[in-house]
Amino acid sequence: MPLDLFDPQTYSNVRRPLLEAEPLPAHCYTERSFFDREVQTIFLKHWNFVGRADMLGKPGDYMAFDFVGIPVLLLRGRDERVRAFYNFCRHRGTPLVTGEGSGLSTLLCPYHSWVYDLTGKLMSAPGMQAAKGFRTADYGLRPIRLETWQGFIFLNFDDKAGPLVDYLGVDFAEEFGSYNFADMVTVRRKEFDLACNWKAYVENAMEAYHVPTVHHTSLIEQKCTVIAGKGHWIALHEEHEGTEAILSDDTTTFPHIAGLKGRADMGTYFNLIYPSTMFGLTRDCMWWLELHPRGPDRTRLIVGSAFPKSTVARADFAEIVQRYYRRWDKSIPEDNVISQLQHQGFSPLVPVAGRLAPDEPVVHVFNNWVLDRVLGRTAA
Ligand code: FES
Ligand SMILES: [Fe+2]
Repeated sequence: MPLDLFDPQTYSNVRRPLLEAEPLPAHCYTERSFFDREVQTIFLKHWNFVGRADMLGKPGDYMAFDFVGIPVLLLRGRDERVRAFYNFCRHRGTPLVTGEGSGLSTLLCPYHSWVYDLTGKLMSAPGMQAAKGFRTADYGLRPIRLETWQGFIFLNFDDKAGPLVDYLGVDFAEEFGSYNFADMVTVRRKEFDLACNWKAYVENAMEAYHVPTVHHTSLIEQKCTVIAGKGHWIALHEEHEGTEAILSDDTTTFPHIAGLKGRADMGTYFNLIYPSTMFGLTRDCMWWLELHPRGPDRTRLIVGSAFPKSTVARADFAEIVQRYYRRWDKSIPEDNVISQLQHQGFSPLVPVAGRLAPDEPVVHVFNNWVLDRVLGRTAA
């Protein structure tokens, strides 16, 4: 009998306690039908992080991108508000802009010249006067729900979803608020096209088991504890001196962020905001890994980094920040290489089970979180 990808029995060993558990089977990383179900039950229903508001610093700044097959446009209006729209013309669907840039005063469709203002209102539609019952007021751009937390932009494609603050949970601001992210400046973003499944990349980012092997020349071994959030997040926390954002052989760093409290002042968080955003939060800066799944075997990775305004204003910022870039430019390609290599080993034709390591608790929680959504909740 062929394997039923959506039968809870297929995953009974993933549902076992960590010390007895198997990882998700290979088909979860390769099968189009499993990916399509993830899009429907996860990405179209949850809040998705897509960047920081300071990346769109001025009215007319914009970014267009694909998110799980949906063309998205982020845009700062003349009223300073950042909005999100489905990036297609209400005439016959052409994207209004591509890539990113600045200086937009209107949105002019490149196909038949319909024009929208920066709030999405259709201002003119040439040659439509004789179209019966056509009113420009009915054909504005379709908005996408957008909410921000301390400068981080999240989108939700489900108009019925609850607010972002409830999604992050009551303890999110308590745990992470003292970083004062609203005061940070995004200084760099890098994009990578990866030939791997989005889940494999999340799993890699959320276990320190691979660090001594994959990062043996770049990072020191990490001893982390797990912090389970009340909202849609789970973090690894590592206690240490100094910052985690430079290489193990480096010492010159920026001052610590003023006012850090509790665990924030004691080391580094590696935080997963479900479904697919990872924040590295250390004493002097933060960086993020943002995933845009494109198919079962394609993922766009965006790596951003942000520092406090006072740090960016230092005369030596441009020089010292190179040490931080060196760290990310070494460790992130190491993760990219191993995640893509791992993907090549996923063969649904040879369904041989693996086994999770005791040092991979968040991988286990994350695997079950995915199954809860894709299958509907089934008891662990
Ligand atoms: S598709 Fe935009 S004006 Fe025709
Ligand atoms: Fe890694």
